[in-house]
Amino acid sequence: MNIKSFEEYREIYKQSEQDRLKFWEHEAGTFYWRKSWEKVHSGGFEKGDIKWFEGGKLNITENALDRHLNTIGNKTAFIFEPNHPDSFRRTITYRQLHEDVCRFANVLQEKGIEKGDRVCIYMAMTPELIISALACARIGAVHSIVFAGFSAQSLAERIQDCDAKMLITNDGLRRGDKHVPLKDISDEALESCPTVKNVIVCQRTNRDIDWKEGRDEWWHNLIRNASRNHKAVEMDAEDPLFILYTSGSTGKPKGVLHTCGGYMVYTSYTFRNVFQVQEEDVYWCTADAGWITGHSYIIYGPLFNGATGIIFEGTPTYPDPGRLWEVVEKYKVTHFYTAPTAIRALMSYDLKYVQKYDLSSLKVLGSVGEPINEEAWHWYDDHVGGGTCPIVDTWWQTETGGIMISPLAGVTPTKPGFATLPLPGIFPTLMDENGKEIEGNGVSGNLCIKHPWPGIARTVWGDHERYLKTYMSAYKGYYFTGDGCRRDPDGYYRITGRVDDVLNVSGHRLGTAEIENALDEHPNVVETAIVGYPHDIKGQGIYAFMICEKTPEDPKAFKKELHDLVTKIIGPIAKPDKIQITPGLPKTRSGKIMRRILRKVAADDLENVGDTSTLLDPSVVDDILKGEAY
Ligand code: WT7
Repeated sequence: MNIKSFEEYREIYKQSEQDRLKFWEHEAGTFYWRKSWEKVHSGGFEKGDIKWFEGGKLNITENALDRHLNTIGNKTAFIFEPNHPDSFRRTITYRQLHEDVCRFANVLQEKGIEKGDRVCIYMAMTPELIISALACARIGAVHSIVFAGFSAQSLAERIQDCDAKMLITNDGLRRGDKHVPLKDISDEALESCPTVKNVIVCQRTNRDIDWKEGRDEWWHNLIRNASRNHKAVEMDAEDPLFILYTSGSTGKPKGVLHTCGGYMVYTSYTFRNVFQVQEEDVYWCTADAGWITGHSYIIYGPLFNGATGIIFEGTPTYPDPGRLWEVVEKYKVTHFYTAPTAIRALMSYDLKYVQKYDLSSLKVLGSVGEPINEEAWHWYDDHVGGGTCPIVDTWWQTETGGIMISPLAGVTPTKPGFATLPLPGIFPTLMDENGKEIEGNGVSGNLCIKHPWPGIARTVWGDHERYLKTYMSAYKGYYFTGDGCRRDPDGYYRITGRVDDVLNVSGHRLGTAEIENALDEHPNVVETAIVGYPHDIKGQGIYAFMICEKTPEDPKAFKKELHDLVTKIIGPIAKPDKIQITPGLPKTRSGKIMRRILRKVAADDLENVGDTSTLLDPSVVDDILKGEAY
């Protein structure tokens, strides 16, 4: 399907409604399958036993790479733009990428990695990260990419959870002016990960690192003699493709599992229709491959469609806040996909950083990860898009695999702050407090999805109960997204943010429980309650209310200790912005913290704290109102 007009969108949406299975079967038919599926779809939200294209045999990398060799083998698959603009940059054609993936697939197999084994990837945003992931997919190993900003402890937790057999990492990386010693962090993590037998280290910074003989090997040594021929391992459509950890409202991060066939069909279909990338276009998604956006819209979606993409190692403000626009000009980028937090950060600098560059190549702008405020939307539209580029505000989640609600570029009329309309094949609905669907327009509720789609996560690794509980139990027979949403009088959807205890900080998803657990490790901390509050650049900031054993003498030093602690346990992205020490927390008689009240205080909305009569001790609210954050 390649939708070209709004009328066509309406028509195809209707068709997808009338016969969902036929719609998805048609999409699946555009790929190369070694053997066709036996059943288009089975299972559902009730039991969480969802399957698509079962019995179909394929290897996803044959669709991402091999299939293109005869037609666009010499086309650029990736342009690699390093952290520093003067460092070595390179382009990789589809043929070269295929060769690199084949070689590395042979390396992995020689190291004893087999179909179904888990391989953890903890790397800089370089071509080797992508080659690693694709090589895993080629041999049927399950990749688990961990964002290279997470701490040793977070890395260890993820490796342990999925019993990874191998870790692929770099000696280190540079992000902006910072150096991150990935190998040192890996070494520390691996002390508690006995399942990892081999570590492959790809050179990036040439700094001194420790070496464990028999376990550690250099990427460049292994790849040197590896054959460039590799026969991809045959997979069933429902075999696992990757695990990606994401935060939930409770407990530890969960390993969201995606499978081969459905994920392939869904990422390809959404990429093609949302972005409308043409043959000669240059597409750039600024995400890191450590997040789902990178998986679906740097690696898989674009490769299935034979697009040219950019792998960007850097940050928006290094060496200066014109960096992104410099890259757009340099490669004549046509499609640019980023997060609102980046836009808001760049908005705060002088306009000259944007105006200095020729951005006339741009055709489509994308936004992802959090609600985009109208001010940022207009700045993006005016100053980056020159008023001529449609903005696709794409709503989706790690669990959905791909974009769910979004304008199709140049097809769907846009509206600032709105993700607009669902893609054909996707049926959103808003639910009221009684668990009933809300009909009509001009309404708000909790966002659910009716009917499974091919890209939906199939389970939480090792904990199917948690999968059922998190997504399928709040509303029987529906997938619950965790988001609140408004449907305006035109039927357009506007995502208003999480309704559960999940924060969205600079487009990164963090669970309040995770941060609380980390802070509670401090010897002076008795109990913590984390809430989000509106933050100009991050979207949401992290506000910690805490009960301390004794009042810290030097609050600044105490805050620094807490920051170091969180950085060590989770990573720097989870550092609280504000800390308020309080004698008590507002709890109900059953001992539940009433975060509603804390959210109001954190947002400085003191008039509207609301009813406090059900609290065990309503006087704690006065203490909190009198208190101060630093
Ligand atoms: C949560 C999912 C999807 C890739 C990046 C984040 C929020 C995502 C939007 C958007 C408003 C958005 C939601 C969602 N979100 N995109 N366009 N407008 N909110 O993936 O880490 O799984 O987080 O991000 O709250 O539930 P994720």
